[in-house]
Amino acid sequence: MAYFYFVLTNVDAEPLLKEEISIRYPELRLSYSRPGFLTFKGEKPLDFRPLFARVSGECQGKFKLNDLKLSKCWVWKRDEELNIPTELAQMSDKTLYKVGETVTLVMMIGPDEFWVGNYQLKSNHFQTPGEVSSIEVKDVPSRAYYKLAEAFEAFDLPFDHQERVLELGSAPGGASLFLLEQDMIVLGVDPAEMDKRVTSNINFKHIRRPFETIIENNFKEDVDWIISDINLPPTVVLKEVYRMLTFLNPRGLVLTLKMNQSKHLEVVASVREQFRKQGFKTVELKYLPSHRQEIALIALRS
Ligand SMILES: C[S@@+](CC[C@H](N)C(=O)[O-])C[C@H]1O[C@@H](n2cnc3c(N)ncnc32)[C@H](O)[C@@H]1O
Repeated sequence: MAYFYFVLTNVDAEPLLKEEISIRYPELRLSYSRPGFLTFKGEKPLDFRPLFARVSGECQGKFKLNDLKLSKCWVWKRDEELNIPTELAQMSDKTLYKVGETVTLVMMIGPDEFWVGNYQLKSNHFQTPGEVSSIEVKDVPSRAYYKLAEAFEAFDLPFDHQERVLELGSAPGGASLFLLEQDMIVLGVDPAEMDKRVTSNINFKHIRRPFETIIENNFKEDVDWIISDINLPPTVVLKEVYRMLTFLNPRGLVLTLKMNQSKHLEVVASVREQFRKQGFKTVELKYLPSHRQEIALIALRS
């Protein structure tokens, strides 16, 4: 018997996803795919939860509109140009799913090409059809604004007013801007220039040098959070973060790990266990809607 699985991901992450599948699910074969939508075929049921997916689940196959017999579903379309048929769009708009429920997701791939998949809704899902971002688009210094806003929303991060954040790789300042909007105090470490919208805020301090030079003496007070979005290999970033954890005691970490080479997959495989050993009770990895070849690591003490 054949079993099929689907993945929705961002086009940039497809090579990483395929590599991950070949390592973690070697029995699966790529079946039908279109950019951003991939299906895989296997011979037995699997707990299929690849990391480099906005959403994944079991795939029931391809349908024409007249063959879809559904009373409840969410509908996602692969291309902005496609028009979701009115009745289906209305059904999607009025369908609510609670965390733990099984979502029926209709994926519109062409004018009369609908694929149906199922997955269990998790609390850190965005709870939008296709798991697209629910963050409003606005004029911000960089994409990092959305990456952090999405992590904040998906994990309900307990950021608090006037908490101190050490932000590694802070330029030009999208993430800093989001943190300042949350009324937090940001110490931004980056040799590059910061956006004026960030530097003009009295709650922002720029430490204009490489993060490798940060030492205990730079801190009069501890920090509550360490956030990183440095464009260096995950091994380098993690080594420095572990070093900082010898003199800082944050209650949470939000690290964007750059995954532009498949060898980084091995690093990520062991990272959960390493942060648990460092005293973080919750350690999660999530591919966010604004991600390209990267993944977010969230570690919380509680
Ligand atoms: C993806 S960008 C960060 C985006 C930023 N978080 C934002 O919100 O706009 C990566 C940054 O890492 C910085 N970076 C690279 N190597 C670094 C190092 N050794 N120490 C500190 N920053 C570094 C770069 O200067 C660059 O600004």
